Amino acid sequence: MVQTVVAPYGDEAIAHAARLIRGGQPVAVPTETVYGLAADATNAAAVARIYEAKGRPSFNPLIVHVPDLAHAKRLGVFSAKARELAAAHWPGPLTLVVPLRPEHGLAPAVTAGLATVAIRVPGHPVMRHLLAAAERPLAAPSANASGRISPTSAEHVLATLAGRIPLVLDSGQTPVGIESTIVLVEGDQVRVLRPGPVLADIAPTRGTDPIAPGMLPGHYAPTKPVRLDVTAALPDEWLIGFGAVGGASSLSERGDLVEAAARLYAELHKADASEAKRIAVAPVPAAGFGIALNDRLRRAATAA
Ligand code: TXA
Ligand code: MG
Repeated sequence: MVQTVVAPYGDEAIAHAARLIRGGQPVAVPTETVYGLAADATNAAAVARIYEAKGRPSFNPLIVHVPDLAHAKRLGVFSAKARELAAAHWPGPLTLVVPLRPEHGLAPAVTAGLATVAIRVPGHPVMRHLLAAAERPLAAPSANASGRISPTSAEHVLATLAGRIPLVLDSGQTPVGIESTIVLVEGDQVRVLRPGPVLADIAPTRGTDPIAPGMLPGHYAPTKPVRLDVTAALPDEWLIGFGAVGGASSLSERGDLVEAAARLYAELHKADASEAKRIAVAPVPAAGFGIALNDRLRRAATAA
């Protein structure tokens, strides 16, 4: 057990976090999508601590976060198509999976033995500040115990990682609320591995089969059973509404998919912590942002 400190974002908190990172410790930090558990991606012991704190199976590789495309190019090989996607969406909630460069310098556990690496340039000012201060590429999965609901607040991080990590940088709710879109780029071929907030210009050449190792069903599951497409709750259910379907709470009363994505994990955390025995969720249209939302809902409804 370690004592987990929650530090409000500021220069001092960043300096403290950067010292921990350089000392090989993992730190929870907000990004625009969800809170990440960040550690020095070049330090094998630091990366091992991420896997240990999360209880994550070590075959599941991590996303490496860097300040810009120039840093990304030191780790991966960028085709013209990959450069085009990076130019259009970085900084932002897009992760590109590209071939690993020979002199990448990453700890082997980051890529879990694959010949590719997942890289993201985040847009959140706190994560960007930490990247600048730590001067290391940061491996960061979502800051939750493996298989549990992703965190969109410092409280959510504490719910599963308190006593397991030294520091949570707190800057309130994350703005986007669901994890980055992950695309595999092979030459000019693009394949969506995980649907997410970035939809534009990504014409998948081969659908959205769950081939990212971490895309197993049950990956984002609450501890309670979840029933989907529900318009009327059973007596023991906590219904999470959407639009015209009301409930114990709502993803978005006005039926806004972007707002629903930003609230999804907070609503699941709330329902999971409630007295109700089961969770039900209203239908959410499966277009635009709704594709990623329905993907996360299906995973939440599949017991691990
Ligand atoms: O929004 C996000 O992406 C957040 C924030 C913290 O950046 N991170 C995140 O990381 O969601 P994580 O570890 O929860 O999910 C990373 C996903 C996993 O499904 C993993 O299997 C996949 O990325 N992945 C990592 N490297 C890969 C690779 N080389 N090939 C295919 N999938 C990969
Ligand atoms: Mg995760």
